[in-house]
Amino acid sequence: MKAKFITLEGVDGAGKSTHLSWLVETLRSRGKTVVQTREPGGTPLGEKLRELLLHESMHLETEALLMFAARREHLEQVILPAVQRGNWVVCDRFTDASFAYQGGGRGLATDKLAQLERWVQGEVQPDLTLLFDLPIDIAAQRMAGAARTLDRFEQEKADFHERVRAAYLARATENPGRFRVLDGRQSIEQIKNQLEDIISSV
Ligand code: ADP
Ligand code: TYD
Repeated sequence: MKAKFITLEGVDGAGKSTHLSWLVETLRSRGKTVVQTREPGGTPLGEKLRELLLHESMHLETEALLMFAARREHLEQVILPAVQRGNWVVCDRFTDASFAYQGGGRGLATDKLAQLERWVQGEVQPDLTLLFDLPIDIAAQRMAGAARTLDRFEQEKADFHERVRAAYLARATENPGRFRVLDGRQSIEQIKNQLEDIISSV
C-alpha cells in the first residue's frame, strides 16, 4: 500500500492526542515506517515559532503568516522528504487548523488563507484528515480535567471555539474525499474501532 500523509484535527479537547499515539503504534505494528509530527512545530525553527504563536499576543495576520512560515519549513524539512522516502506521516494539525482557528475563530478572510495555502503547499494536501468533532461544552469539560496552563487559543471563550468547530465542519463538507469526521462523543474504544476501519480502507 502507498504511504499516506494523515492529519488529525479538531477543537481543543476533542481527543486528538488520545488517539494520535494509538494510531501511530497501530500503523507501526502493521509494519509501516511512521513519522509522527505536529503543527505548529515539527522542526527546530517551527518549534520556536510555536512558542511565540501559543504565548505572545500578535495581529491576526501575523499569526496566520507565522503558522504558514512554520508550515513551509515543516514541509521542506520533514513532510515531503518522509513522503518521498515512502514513509507514512501522521501530523497533529495542519492547514485545516489555519482555516478553522485563524479563519473561523479569528475571522481572517478565507481567500487570504487560500492564497497562503497555494503559495506554501502548491498541490500538496493530506491523503486523509481525521476530524474529531465534539460539542464545545463537552470539550471544555474534558479540558477542565487537565492540570496545566492554557495557551492563547485554549484561553479563548466558547464562541471562538464554536466558530472553530463550524469552520472545521465546513472544510470537511468542502473536501469530502479527504476528510473523515469522527463523533468525539463516542467512547475511546468505539473511536479506536472506527479508526481501525478507516486506516484499513485507505
Ligand atoms: P486534544 O488533544 O484534542 O486536545 P485530548 O486527547 O487531550 O484532546 O483529550 C482531552 C481529554 O479528554 C483527555 O483527558 C482525554 O483523556 C479525554 N478524552 C479523550 N477522548 C475521550 C472520549 N472519547 N471519551 C471520554 N474522554 C475522552
Ligand atoms: P495543540 O496542537 O492543540 O497542542 P496541545 O495539544 O499541546 O495543546 O495546540 C496548538 C494550537 O495552535 C491549537 O490551539 C490550535 C492552534 N493552531 C492554529 O491556530 N492554527 C494552525 O494553523 C495550527 C496548526 C494550530
